[in-house]
Amino acid sequence: MKSGLEDVIAAETKLSDVDGAAGRLIIRGVSLDDLVATSRFEDVAALLLDGLFDEHIDATSIRTQLGAARVALFSHVEAAADATLLALPPVDAVRALLARIEDGEDFASAIRLMAAPAVFLPAVLRLQKGDAPIKPDASLSQSADILRMLTGRVPTAEQTAGLDAYLVTISDHGLNASTFASRVIASTHAGLTSSVLAAISALKGPLHGGAPGPVLDMLDGVGKPENAREWLSHALDHGERLMGFGHRIYRVRDPRADALKTALKPIFASGQADAGRIALAEAIEAAALALLKERKPDRPLETNVEYYTALLLDALGFPRNAFTGVFAIGRTVGWIAHAREQTLDGRLIRPQSRYVGPLPKAA
Ligand code: ACO
Repeated sequence: MKSGLEDVIAAETKLSDVDGAAGRLIIRGVSLDDLVATSRFEDVAALLLDGLFDEHIDATSIRTQLGAARVALFSHVEAAADATLLALPPVDAVRALLARIEDGEDFASAIRLMAAPAVFLPAVLRLQKGDAPIKPDASLSQSADILRMLTGRVPTAEQTAGLDAYLVTISDHGLNASTFASRVIASTHAGLTSSVLAAISALKGPLHGGAPGPVLDMLDGVGKPENAREWLSHALDHGERLMGFGHRIYRVRDPRADALKTALKPIFASGQADAGRIALAEAIEAAALALLKERKPDRPLETNVEYYTALLLDALGFPRNAFTGVFAIGRTVGWIAHAREQTLDGRLIRPQSRYVGPLPKAA
């Protein structure tokens, strides 16, 4: 029995394949590199959801329906974002607002759940700063509208492309902890809102989707490239894990790290973010990889998706406490696709445990 269930196959899926030895991610037959180069969020949503609902699904109709759903959901924020909710970390506030969406199994429910975090996160962030939330614009793509609702400005083409690349890159990733949680809930036929709520709760932990904020803390802590080795050694000496490194499945570099590094370059190259940050990140990455190799020679520990996520989302204007919420915006489509696959093809998930506690005393 392995308590992390590693090597256990717990589902068959046509949605994505993570090859940890080769460092390869395939989403519905398309390699990640091709997908990021050619797709916006709406394209990958159509790819993942096609065939899982009664409706014919294409990217154009998803864009129209998401726009309408964003506009309809805005009233939820105005109705429910009270002081108690706004005192929560952003991802928890988004989860609380999501819990007010009625459970369902149909495509309209899926659209609502994909649109909801895209509306709720920017609105919560603005309200927490004391600014009025900005109404969605149904004519924009999901990525462009998220950035406009966050900053109040229409984003540049590079910024929109950067967020699309991020949302596509993290849209699905095999049976990770949050996706497994989504499938477990779906297997009881509780409904898609319940699946997404379970998944977002699993995502927020620092060992899963909670890492990119701390990556930025690490960059700030190191400050200058020449400090990297000493700062990181000190952290490891104190038993800390270096955020943005290591992965349960990948034994080589996470392919998503390079996809995101490529995506962020146009934003930095066009002067829309401080180019010195990339140089600092590269120096820290090199020092971290060297140190991890020295300290854990038997365990390949490489850069994971969260490392360049931190740089990209920071450059796009998201505060670091919101990074997990942005992850949830992108991963919701994967959670929904897996939930539907489980509901359509799977059985109730009910593994067994081995009892190792005391036995009753003999009478
Ligand atoms: N820094 C330092 N040491 C590490 C790191 C790290 N980032 N990752 C693993 N190790 C060490 C562990 O402490 C462990 O050492 P030990 O055997 O002496 O106890 C050894 O390497 C093996 O690690 P595991 O715990 O077996 O790795 P596991 O597969 O359970 O965990 C995880 C993977 C959680 C991602 C881990 O590498 C980690 O904590 N990384 C930092 C957090 C992070 O970046 N999370 C985002 C992951 S990507 C995602 O979920 C979207």
